[in-house]
Amino acid sequence: MVKITEAKFITSAVRREQYPAPELPEVAFSGRSNVGKSSMINCLLNRHRLARTSSTPGHTRLINFYLVNRRWYFVDLPGYGYARVPAEMRRSWKKIVEDYLQTRKNLKLVVIIIDLRRGLEDDELNFLFWLRENGIPALVVATKADKVKKSQRQVARKKIQDQLQEFPGVPVVEFSARTKEGRDEVWRYLIKALEE
Ligand code: GTP
Ligand code: MG
Repeated sequence: MVKITEAKFITSAVRREQYPAPELPEVAFSGRSNVGKSSMINCLLNRHRLARTSSTPGHTRLINFYLVNRRWYFVDLPGYGYARVPAEMRRSWKKIVEDYLQTRKNLKLVVIIIDLRRGLEDDELNFLFWLRENGIPALVVATKADKVKKSQRQVARKKIQDQLQEFPGVPVVEFSARTKEGRDEVWRYLIKALEE
């Protein structure tokens, strides 16, 4: 499997002038607030506290760039869908993220992180349509799998597979940052997208 020799935080950005030069292939991680984006990045990179994790939803408001093995950028996008965020802030989130997605020429893949227990909601389905229209490949990762009882697993899986019928070519991986389930499988998709 992929050996992480180096992983470091590069910068936080809001506007495109603040992004690092688009000289390396890049993957972005997106998902609603508190779904487990930062934990997933830390798990993939074998680092405990590289990406900031918090139990305060909506903590990360900026686009955070990490450089991995001097070869790829990992991007932690700000979380969406936090109910207590005012409309003004939701609009600003949308602008920041759309700006990023539309200008980033080196972006190879967007990982949409969902909670395995919740499946895809309207925000994610809209996002998948938007990505398809803009020609950006997507991967769905259903995280917090450790919280799902064995008996519920098949139900949760079936629901997500049904929802993704609309999006052939978008794979789904079940994942847990706690147990590292799915880590190798996610890496296989990342490598395929980043190295092709
Ligand atoms: P924001 O940046 O605030 O939008 O959150 P985030 O999506 O980066 O989520 P973060 O990684 O900070 O995790 C949120 C909470 O979920 C933390 O309390 C994590 O410990 C917990 N968490 C994340 N991944 C998992 C997982 O796979 N299993 C379990 N049980 N808890 C998880
Ligand atoms: Mg985060």
